[in-house]
Amino acid sequence: MDWRKTKQRRTEQAEFMKVLVIGGGGREHAICWKLAQSRHLPEIFCAPGNAGTARHGRNVAIPATDVSSLLAFARDNAIDLTIVGPEDPLCLGIVDEFVAAGLRIFGPTKAAARIEGDKVWAKKLMREAGVPTAEARIFEPTAQELMQLKQAHRGDDFEMPESVETGFKMARRYVSTRDEGVVIKAAGLARGKGVFVHDDPADALLTLEKLMVQRELGDAGARVVVEEILIGREVSILALVDGSTIYVLESAADHKRLGDEDTGPNTGGMGAFSPSGLLTEKDLEIIERDVFVPIIDAMRRMDIEYRGVLYAGMMMTAGGPKVLEFNCRFGDPEAQPLLMRLRSDLVDTINAAIDGKLEDVQLEWDRRPSLCVVMASGGYPGEYEKGKEITGLEDAASVENAVVFHAGTRGVGQRVETSGGRVLGVTALGEDLQKARTTAYEAVRRIAFDGAIFRGDIGMRVSGR
Ligand code: AMP
Ligand code: GLY
Repeated sequence: MDWRKTKQRRTEQAEFMKVLVIGGGGREHAICWKLAQSRHLPEIFCAPGNAGTARHGRNVAIPATDVSSLLAFARDNAIDLTIVGPEDPLCLGIVDEFVAAGLRIFGPTKAAARIEGDKVWAKKLMREAGVPTAEARIFEPTAQELMQLKQAHRGDDFEMPESVETGFKMARRYVSTRDEGVVIKAAGLARGKGVFVHDDPADALLTLEKLMVQRELGDAGARVVVEEILIGREVSILALVDGSTIYVLESAADHKRLGDEDTGPNTGGMGAFSPSGLLTEKDLEIIERDVFVPIIDAMRRMDIEYRGVLYAGMMMTAGGPKVLEFNCRFGDPEAQPLLMRLRSDLVDTINAAIDGKLEDVQLEWDRRPSLCVVMASGGYPGEYEKGKEITGLEDAASVENAVVFHAGTRGVGQRVETSGGRVLGVTALGEDLQKARTTAYEAVRRIAFDGAIFRGDIGMRVSGR
């Protein structure tokens, strides 16, 4: 929908609201797209946004992590509702600051967002709550050791201080005694680059050194979780939480690896679909009972009230569902197929979560599956070039039941150019997953930019082909 038309309609209404969406990826475009269909006809702002979000409202040139400028913008422009897309501002405490300023915002507080921002803390919380997850050991240097490490890094010739014992050396000792593979996770936020799955423990030793000694991810890797490798199918289960009520959304799954048949490095996600096709109603009930309820209760016992989206990355193992990680937000690209299937009004849904009224909500979903194919810049998730002209967007958008969500794009005059790693999320609904896939790829074929890469097998693992 063209936002100018929305605006024209809006002026005919007595009541309207202003909504600010924070972020600039495919998830945020999908949120803006869905907001544009709300019965509230909101005026939409997106900071910083992309060429896609600009079609639904106004982009605001403030980075998602500049909390004080975002707060000033929301206050000065009398924003009625702010929706936070990515984890960084949540972990920085944007919700706490907006709430303190009397502004309405959707997302967890800084204390609650720690469930994503600090994997050591999250692992301890899962243990305390009795949530099924991978067996793990935690290695964290003491505050004193961290300081010594920091000081040692100031010199040109870094030398590991003798005294640094409990963190790195213990981790090394532990990993060297293992004859099976391990997963090493940096505790802090690392934009999807902080998890290393090593079949060979010898490689894991190198990773430990890179994270804990060379500090390649900075403070994010100073503390680590070392855990067993889980085998199974991955699913993404997202829930809305309003402080007490948990509303589990339709299931989804994403494809984290760069290449077809799950080869190559992990990425932020190369495609997603919903429903996941793997889970029965019973599985979802078990996940709600054994994962969501105990983790929310454990936080409540610590006086942490969770309000926002809670995303459980699950591995369906032979021993039952186990948590790989929690995220404190909508998944990207899972949000694209999920929001395309959501029929209920997004503003009403989010307001119910903020107001503690999820108990009264019954979400309506399109029963048709939806599938999203991510088109990325050549080189992603490593180095890539930006500024490539994207052609065929209108042609792709004319494919029935398809929507092209923008991620790393920007408008330059009449042109749209690439400006990030993941560029587009081409998403389609279909009578079945196979049809959704055919439609999505039909739209993908109409789009071109220099160096474009995408997987050819999104949704294949459950389609029986
Ligand atoms: P995370 O950010 O913790 O979800 O990890 C990113 C990805 O690494 C996951 O989506 C999995 O594909 C993989 N992963 C994480 N933990 C494990 C584990 N314990 N066993 C196997 N794979 C894992
Ligand atoms: N698609 C995975 C994530 O949003 O973290």
